[in-house]
Amino acid sequence: MSRITFINGKYVPHGESLIHIEDRGHQFSDGVYEVIHFKGTQFVDESLHLERLQKSLKELSISLPLSLEALKIHMHRLVQVNRVEEGYIYMQISRGIAARDHAFPKKAQPSLTMMVRRCSFAPFQGIKVITTKDQRWGRCDVKSVSLLPNVLAKQEAITRGAYEAWLVDEKGFVTEGCSTNAWIVAGDILLTAPESTGILKGITRERLKNLASSLGFTVQERSFTVEQAYLSTEAFLSSTNAPLLPIVQINDRTIGTGKPGKVSLALRNAYEEFVKEELHQYV
Ligand code: PDD
Repeated sequence: MSRITFINGKYVPHGESLIHIEDRGHQFSDGVYEVIHFKGTQFVDESLHLERLQKSLKELSISLPLSLEALKIHMHRLVQVNRVEEGYIYMQISRGIAARDHAFPKKAQPSLTMMVRRCSFAPFQGIKVITTKDQRWGRCDVKSVSLLPNVLAKQEAITRGAYEAWLVDEKGFVTEGCSTNAWIVAGDILLTAPESTGILKGITRERLKNLASSLGFTVQERSFTVEQAYLSTEAFLSSTNAPLLPIVQINDRTIGTGKPGKVSLALRNAYEEFVKEELHQYV
């Protein structure tokens, strides 16, 4: 069965999902997106993702082209018609189609496109990250589709044999990864960068913060340097499709024992348990 994509109210075969040349998402990256993992027909932390979507839209003065209720109905229907058991939904809302001009168009209907892709959570295994300069704009808290610096840093990671690149700001602090939040562990203390316009407030990060506290760990939202990361006992990254991946190497330095650590394992297990409970009908 061919994949089905949602384009402005229509369900179309994936290969025919055409976007207008003057869609501002295409010409100016003038839009926002969300990625939500699902199992069965349930989305993980759906309401938190949709809250963040609305916040991103508000920051860019783009309106949701349909009601939130209608959006949820289409999200669920898209998963059903694609008959995918586990995967993620990618949704993008651009300012819409208008004659090319940098200023906001006086009239434009925002475009909503959505697709579904089959995938499981990334397997729990030790990965390598590299560090590189954070070259992004000043509003990384907005989930904008403008991702060129992220793309370039990720490619640098791949070229250097790593899974992800950690981005380092002008002060020498690790902000986050190209598409993941960054964490280090020192004993029972977990550190992740504080909420700011310099990072995306990851939904998985929020969830892990709560789970870590309930497991008795202390979470501190505090910036850390690459040097501090080298000295950590464990390090990991988090995102929707990779809820917790242990980092065993940063650049050429081994982290901890060079194997995934106990804190990472406990927290990943707690996250998977949480997902099972939240999506209770899925076994
Ligand atoms: N990325 N930081 C950045 C820059 C991200 O793009 C993402 C998500 C995260 C983690 O956020 P969350 O836990 O809400 O997924 C952090 C998505 C998955 C992507 O671009 O594909």
